[in-house]
Amino acid sequence: MAGEVLGVLCSGRGTNLQSIIDAVASGQIKAPIGVVITDKPGVMALERAEKANIPAVCVDRKQFATREEFDAALLAELKKYGVTLVCLAGFMRLLTAEFIRAYEGRILNIHPALLPSFKGAHAHRDAIAYGAKVSGCTIHFVVEDMDAGPIILQAAVPVEEGDDEDSLGARVLVQEHKLYPRAIELFLAGKLTIDGRCVRISK
Ligand code: GAR
Repeated sequence: MAGEVLGVLCSGRGTNLQSIIDAVASGQIKAPIGVVITDKPGVMALERAEKANIPAVCVDRKQFATREEFDAALLAELKKYGVTLVCLAGFMRLLTAEFIRAYEGRILNIHPALLPSFKGAHAHRDAIAYGAKVSGCTIHFVVEDMDAGPIILQAAVPVEEGDDEDSLGARVLVQEHKLYPRAIELFLAGKLTIDGRCVRISK
C-alpha cells in the first residue's frame, strides 16, 4: 500500500523506537513515522521523537477511567496523524478488541522472548527462572490474546551462566534493534501474508 504512515506506541526508554527512527533515516524503512504516542508523561521515548522532529504525544493512561476510553483516545490521535501501521515498541498495555479491529492486520509488536514461551511483562526474569538455555525476541501481529498473534520474525540468543534480567535483556536488545526494522521493511514491501497462525514471507 502506497502512502503508509507509521505510528509508534511506547511506554518507556524507546530504544526500539530509536532503531525505527534510524531505519527511516537510512532508507531501510520506506515510510515516515507520523506520530509517537506514549501512555506516560516524561518518558525518554518522547524526547527521542522530539529530537527527530516527529510529533510526540502523551495519552496519559491515568487520565482515563477505562481501557475503552483510553484506546478511543489513542485511536483518535492515530487517525489525526494518518497512521496506517501501528508499531508497538515497548508499549506495556493490552489493547481492546475495538482498537485491534480498527487496525486489523496492521498492528505489530515486539516481545523479548521466543513466543509462545515467556509471554507477559517479565520475559527475561521468567526465562532465567525457568532455566531456559536459549531466549530471544519475536515480532508478531497483534491479536486480542496477549502475545499470541502470528509470528513474523524471531531471533535466538543464548542464556549465559549467571545471567540476570539486565545482562540477558541487553543481549536480546541487540537483536531486537535489527529485527523490528526488518519486519517493518517486509510489511511495507507487501511481503507478509497471514495464513491462519502462520505468516508467509515472500521473496
Ligand atoms: C523491549 O525489550 C521490548 O521487547 C519489551 O520492552 C522493551 C522496551 O524497550 N516489550 C515488552 O516486554 C512487551 N511485552 P525500549 O523502550 O528500549 O524499546
